[in-house]
Amino acid sequence: MKNNIKQFILNLLRKKTPDEFIETAKNSKLKKTLNAFDLIMLGIGAVIGTGIFTIIGIAMVGEQTSPGAGPAVIISMIIAMFACLFSALCYAEFASMIPAAGSAYTYTYVTMGEFMAWIIGWILMLEYAISNITVACSWTGYFMELLKGFSHILPSWLVNPPVWLVNDYRTAVSVYTNMGLDPSFEIPKIFGIIPFCINLPAILLILIITILLIQGIKESTRAATILVFVKLFVILLFIFAGAFYVSPENWVPFTPNGIKGILSGAFLIFFAYVGVDAVSSAAEETKDPQKNLPIGIIGTLIVCTIVYVGTALVLSGMVPVDKINILAPITAAINSAGLYKIGGLIAVGALAGLTSVLLVYQLGTTRILYAMARDNFFPKSFQKIHPKHGTPHIVTWAAGIIVIIGALFMDLKISAELCDFGTFANFMIICIAVLILRKTDPDRKRPFKVPFVPLFPILGIILCGGIMIHGFITLGISAILFPLWIVLGAIIYFAYGYKKHREEETKISS
Ligand code: ALA
Repeated sequence: MKNNIKQFILNLLRKKTPDEFIETAKNSKLKKTLNAFDLIMLGIGAVIGTGIFTIIGIAMVGEQTSPGAGPAVIISMIIAMFACLFSALCYAEFASMIPAAGSAYTYTYVTMGEFMAWIIGWILMLEYAISNITVACSWTGYFMELLKGFSHILPSWLVNPPVWLVNDYRTAVSVYTNMGLDPSFEIPKIFGIIPFCINLPAILLILIITILLIQGIKESTRAATILVFVKLFVILLFIFAGAFYVSPENWVPFTPNGIKGILSGAFLIFFAYVGVDAVSSAAEETKDPQKNLPIGIIGTLIVCTIVYVGTALVLSGMVPVDKINILAPITAAINSAGLYKIGGLIAVGALAGLTSVLLVYQLGTTRILYAMARDNFFPKSFQKIHPKHGTPHIVTWAAGIIVIIGALFMDLKISAELCDFGTFANFMIICIAVLILRKTDPDRKRPFKVPFVPLFPILGIILCGGIMIHGFITLGISAILFPLWIVLGAIIYFAYGYKKHREEETKISS
């Protein structure tokens, strides 16, 4: 009995060496086609999206559980950027040292062992798949706004579809209630009892993206590159056109809710930076990964920070905080200056931006699931690579189905907060992992090294941990769902993953 317990604990802590992952990656059938430029495009594709097009408004104005930062959202952004920067440097060190698929899951496996690796893989699902529910919901909102702009040529059933056909259940209920209608009467019911709401545009989009991802990584990043250029163009257009309408008196008071507002803003606006690490998930498909991965990660963070600070300065200078539109702040600000044509263009750009985020996150989800499947924590079929396209098609479908099902049940804000909790936890673990590997494997070749170790990783842990604790204290449903998500992951591991992994190991060794 005592021996069994000892073995069980040893199994939970059992690590893989970086060389094992590097060897597996070398034999991988994934095609190596991406260069540094592709990676920065992939990174910007993942990062600039709902955060700057929608969530910036909530971060500035605030709502019930989180006071707004006002114009001081710029400070919130810089705090969130530093939380990201220290962790991004740690990601770059790992990605250049172990260029294998799996991102934080792989890095945790080599430093903290099997159980923590599984938990991080599970948390990464929050960051990638669950956040895509937020992005898909916001995409539908912008899409419907765009269709309304063409109401003179499009049929009315397309421009004004029933609310239950373009929203999840919770959102549909609040939309009907705001319209003064009775949701229980308006929402159709299956068998007369189960209410039926479906965000159809989001679901169709996820299906198209899933098919595109199966066609091949190069095709997917090519599509992401075009979308990235469109969204960068419209954001820069907003900054340069809007700058002429800035009134400095709108920056006063700069911090309407003091430090609390700034910290709540930092928690929310952190969503805008989520995705910096997605670059590392394409490690196995990168040419010369030791050089290109650090450039991809740090380059993405620099470009995004410049764009975000510019956008926040112009937005807060154009519109007084109490007049900011929470759902589409950027388009509304431009329209309020009378620049309607630019407003329409920005709506198109927002759609392009959100589409690219969805594309890259679906890609990230599949690569993490694939890495976990390769370690035999999932059914064998998840390891299959499409014979013609060279992509993991079964996990790609699985990732698509997770988001489609989630989009039926979850609402935008809760999924965004859950994603932030998951990403903070993940970033902290990576900072800790860098410190561990520097101690346990100091001589390993590190083509990129985090400067000022241990100071930088420790600052990453303090910043991410501090903002996360603030979120736990101030937020409601998501602060409860996050620990529940981790407990659910642990249950699945002990009930399935742990045994499956051992069964496959026994087969290999016999
Ligand atoms: N950073 C991504 C976005 O803002 C998740 O949509």
